[in-house]
Amino acid sequence: MIVLGIESSCDETSVSIINEEKILANLISSQDFHVNYGGVVPELSSRAHLQMVIPLLRKALSESNLTLKEIDIISATAGPGLIGALLVGLTFGKGLAYSLKKEFVPVNHIEGHIYSGFLMEEKPEFPYLCLVVSGGHTLLLLVKDFTTIYKLGSTIDDAAGEAFDKVSKMIGLGYPGGPKIQSEAERGNKNAIKFPIAQLKGKYDFSFSGVKTSVLRYLQQNYSDISNIPEDDIPDIAASFQYAVIKALSGKVEKAMKSNEIKSLSLVGGVAANRALRNSFEQLAKKYSNKLVIPDLQFCGDNAAMIAYRGCSLYKSGRRFQLSANAYPSLSQETFAKLVIPPAKRNK
Ligand code: KG4
Ligand code: ZN
Repeated sequence: MIVLGIESSCDETSVSIINEEKILANLISSQDFHVNYGGVVPELSSRAHLQMVIPLLRKALSESNLTLKEIDIISATAGPGLIGALLVGLTFGKGLAYSLKKEFVPVNHIEGHIYSGFLMEEKPEFPYLCLVVSGGHTLLLLVKDFTTIYKLGSTIDDAAGEAFDKVSKMIGLGYPGGPKIQSEAERGNKNAIKFPIAQLKGKYDFSFSGVKTSVLRYLQQNYSDISNIPEDDIPDIAASFQYAVIKALSGKVEKAMKSNEIKSLSLVGGVAANRALRNSFEQLAKKYSNKLVIPDLQFCGDNAAMIAYRGCSLYKSGRRFQLSANAYPSLSQETFAKLVIPPAKRNK
């Protein structure tokens, strides 16, 4: 089954063609111009998607040595994301499917991330514990199969990626925050400054707005002009902040590993590109003898291969042409992960 995937939820336009699990093309065009504005400008993002989607489709077809006629299913991200940006890819995908008389399957972007481990040679085994860490979401999930996902916890305020982006801006590194903090952190001492992380009552919930405020307070207490922090001080601040976030994420994941029967552990989403976080997950998987699946970097950030893969698995579980599918900005508007059943206890 040949699936065309289209992703346009934020600042990456991506088109991919897969044959079941084999990736024939996965093209990603990042909208780097947002750097001039310190963050993503929604309207500019929509326009750039509009410019890029057709050239990327042409290139993906030529890389795969296929024609449009040979595509079986078309999938596009329907949400969550920037509504204008989503509409570009979704409407294009629906129009293409309608004109070609192909099946169309709308895909939830977060579900795309959740199953992105299946794009790897070593695949997750059900049930698996999945930490989704992206720019807009932080979710700890128990993935039972291709249709059942139990939500264990989520952030009550900022997403992990959002915290990276905001702190990056605060210390003058700018956009995109995650990779910039990571590279500064790699030259710094993670124990230099103690940034506290909120201990929430909700067993598996996260909160990152406190650590962001504690970085701001630290800057205000230590520098007369916080818009001009000495370059030499940045690595320690970045490393200490990154360490606090990783400790918070890994702590909750370990807790969930102790009390849930799982076969694998998976880390997905843009922040899963972070080397220190990947290392921390490697240690956790080793400690509890679980198989670990973290996608390659090209499948951590936003990409259409994960959308095509999820479209394919939904199609196989009965999802069919939905011309009426509309774009939605937030996760809560979808039927995603509504089933929350306390999983069986396991004592370790
Ligand atoms: O999944 P993604 O590409 O887009 C969303 O669905 O939001 O995630 C983007 C997020 C951004 O917040 C970005 O700063 C973060 O992923 N990110 C990183 C790294 N690379 C990207 N965060 C930490 N370390 C990285 N190396
Ligand atoms: Zn994403």
